[in-house]
Amino acid sequence: MNTDVLLGLQWGDEGKGKIVDVLTPNYQIIARFQGGPNAGHTLEFSGKKYVLHTIPSGIFRENVINVIGNGVVIDPIIFKKEIDKLSESGVELISKLKISKKAHLILPSHRILDAASEAAKGKSKIGSTLKGIGPTYMDKTGRNGLRVGDILSANFMEKYKTLVDKHKHMLKQFDFEYNFAEFEAGFFEGIECLKKFDLIESEYYLNHAMVNGKSILAEGAQGTLLDIDFGSYPFVTSSNTITAGASTGLGIAPNRIGEVFGIFKAYCTRVGSGPFPTELFDETGETLRSVGKEFGSTTGRARRCGWLDLAALKYSVMINGVTKLIMMKADVMNNFETIKVAVGYSINAEVTDMLPFELTEEVVPVYKELKGWNTDITGLKSETEFPVELNEYISYIEDYLGVPIWIVSVGPDREATILRNL
Ligand code: GDP
Ligand code: IMO
Ligand code: MG
Repeated sequence: MNTDVLLGLQWGDEGKGKIVDVLTPNYQIIARFQGGPNAGHTLEFSGKKYVLHTIPSGIFRENVINVIGNGVVIDPIIFKKEIDKLSESGVELISKLKISKKAHLILPSHRILDAASEAAKGKSKIGSTLKGIGPTYMDKTGRNGLRVGDILSANFMEKYKTLVDKHKHMLKQFDFEYNFAEFEAGFFEGIECLKKFDLIESEYYLNHAMVNGKSILAEGAQGTLLDIDFGSYPFVTSSNTITAGASTGLGIAPNRIGEVFGIFKAYCTRVGSGPFPTELFDETGETLRSVGKEFGSTTGRARRCGWLDLAALKYSVMINGVTKLIMMKADVMNNFETIKVAVGYSINAEVTDMLPFELTEEVVPVYKELKGWNTDITGLKSETEFPVELNEYISYIEDYLGVPIWIVSVGPDREATILRNL
């Protein structure tokens, strides 16, 4: 069997965690392929809410193996906290979670470097989650990094100290004060916690699983517009968040990728700095933020909100080869008389539907106005109950993107999920 992929098409926080959890019963393995604890994936069921940072969102279902792939970066401190919290909620983990030996470790000094680098950037800061993501991937590509498999080697402490010393040396170039002991607290307990798990060659595990007919869903983190190659550089994360990232982040060949589920909000949000052409600074933006509870799952920061950007979405669909779309948070726009979507950009009086090299202030969205449904869709159970205007919104998006919308989400709970007949 081929591996299906689920990933974000906007600037992250599209609702990946919720939908991976909803789709998990269709799969035997769920595998995270990139990113680290900069991610915050929220799941809600039975009146409870959970936020996952490193652990795949299939963890709450029975008879499913969850894999943290080689493309992921793991902070042992955050990992242990997550494990402890899940264990307290009664989730059995040891038999359900496997970790790639090739996943890289986020060291305490990576977090310090992240903080120092952001502080030095001043106004032009990226708005990083400060989880050490950038410096860890820099060490990976710079061939200095430490991997999960290294924790099993006799000279791990030596390797750790060498890298930390190097980081301390690098930190001298910044005017940044830090207390190393504070950052390091809990690190070695985290390493011991990691050792309790099945540390594997996940590329073999996953490829053997496919040969044996097992079904796999690859779970992305962040979103396409935060991709290191195709996102709004430099205001991006440091990994490939796109379908190709699932190949490199799991060792699954491109021709073994099956469906690509592209997930987007019925509007747009962004947390952190960087361009956002359809951002709203008015009451409508405020309404989206308050009704949509748009505050970061990882940092608690208020998310910037705006209209759906179809031109950007079309770009994401192209880069990822999306086969089915999933539209989230339609319920957040329950009370709108009209809704706008960007269908292109006007740049110095020329109109294009292609994303320009740089999204500067000169890039002004061109909007199409559609009728809002202006009615509560929260409790709906089937697409036959959809108001006419919601169906029109769906059709407009499908026509523009040339890909069908398979799922419409109308609330944060697992149950508030409507599968359409395609
Ligand atoms: P992820 O990072 O892509 O997993 O998304 P986040 O969990 O960071 O953010 C999505 C937020 O929207 C979470 O608080 C979810 O509980 C919530 N959510 C997901 N789907 C829906 C929906 O259809 N309607 C509403 N109102 N909230 C949703
Ligand atoms: P999930 O998986 C939304 C953003 C940060 C910042 C930029 C770089 O929950 O969708 P980094 O910490 O990677 O150096 O930050 O990327 N960012 C996210 N925004 N959702 C995420 O993950 C994000 N992960 C990183 O806010 O702008
Ligand atoms: Mg999130």
